[in-house]
Amino acid sequence: FSHRDPVQEARDSLKKLDLTHRARRNRKAEWSRRLVRENVLTTDDLIWPLFLIEGENRQEPVAAMPGVERLSIDAAVRAAVKAAELNIPALAFFPYTEPELRDPLGKEALNAQNLVCRACRAIKREVPHIGLITDVALDPYTTHGHDGVMRGEEILNDESVAVLVEQALNQARAGADVIAPSDMMDGRVAAIRAALDAEGFESVQIMSYAAKYASAFYGPFRDAIGTKGVLIGDKRTYQMDPANSDEALREVAEDIEEGADMVMVKPGMPYLDIIRRIRDQFPIPTFAYQVSGEYAMIQAAAGHGWIDGEKAMLESLLAFKRAGASGILTYFAVEVAQKLADRK
Ligand code: PBG
Repeated sequence: FSHRDPVQEARDSLKKLDLTHRARRNRKAEWSRRLVRENVLTTDDLIWPLFLIEGENRQEPVAAMPGVERLSIDAAVRAAVKAAELNIPALAFFPYTEPELRDPLGKEALNAQNLVCRACRAIKREVPHIGLITDVALDPYTTHGHDGVMRGEEILNDESVAVLVEQALNQARAGADVIAPSDMMDGRVAAIRAALDAEGFESVQIMSYAAKYASAFYGPFRDAIGTKGVLIGDKRTYQMDPANSDEALREVAEDIEEGADMVMVKPGMPYLDIIRRIRDQFPIPTFAYQVSGEYAMIQAAAGHGWIDGEKAMLESLLAFKRAGASGILTYFAVEVAQKLADRK
């Protein structure tokens, strides 16, 4: 009897393609894939954003960010110890401000004893070799949830810059290594640089959120810092229109001109083209912020079993490297650092 094997029959009648190039040759084995790999993600690329809250021994889950917690200062110190052990270069702080400490001017931002300043001092004391990045913007401290000062419906630029400069100085005095203005007011980088230098903080770096978009992907963050139901209107008069990319290059050029040491693009994955354009044009360290909504999407899909969360996490971060990012602010920092350490 005859046993018919259609695959074998196809092979027998096959005429081999006459190809000079077969891209699959370099992909045939893991050793070869490693040899030709163009980008790698390392622990050196990671900045870990931390949410702070008052209290002691407090770790409060953020509903829309599974795996992320608001930490009291003592818990943040322990987290910093862990991050340092994993060799994560730097932390970025974001405070949940108690509602009674918020006012229209965001005065708590200037309090030398505010949550961020106390966290900086405590972590500098216990974990002196990890970099501390502090966010300059008034939104955690204002009753209207905007990053600057309001008059009527308007977010005032120059008045806001005057306050933001004071906020930056307050953070530098508390030991912040890097000042990261995320407010998107015009002229703030130059004003902050001048004020830092005048007070002897010439070695404090500025990482400017140069291209920060008015994005829907910040939703879970606003929940984390308690500004979710608070924000009046939206931030489109100061954050960038998602439709624009030439404008991002102008923002970056100006921030470099004004004295930024590093620039940032935010959000991350929907704006990989912006990172690439910046890198092609400007020789300056460029960071990506994989924001709360991006984190939430990966965690939510993984939680449902719809994607492999670990692979999606690593692929999303590698994508930033491929786009040209010097590093990434990511809520996955600890998980990734652990993974990378286990691989060695
Ligand atoms: C505020 C600020 C925001 C984020 C970082 N700094 C939110 C906003 O502009 O409303 C978002 C970060 C995230 O979503 O993970 N100046």
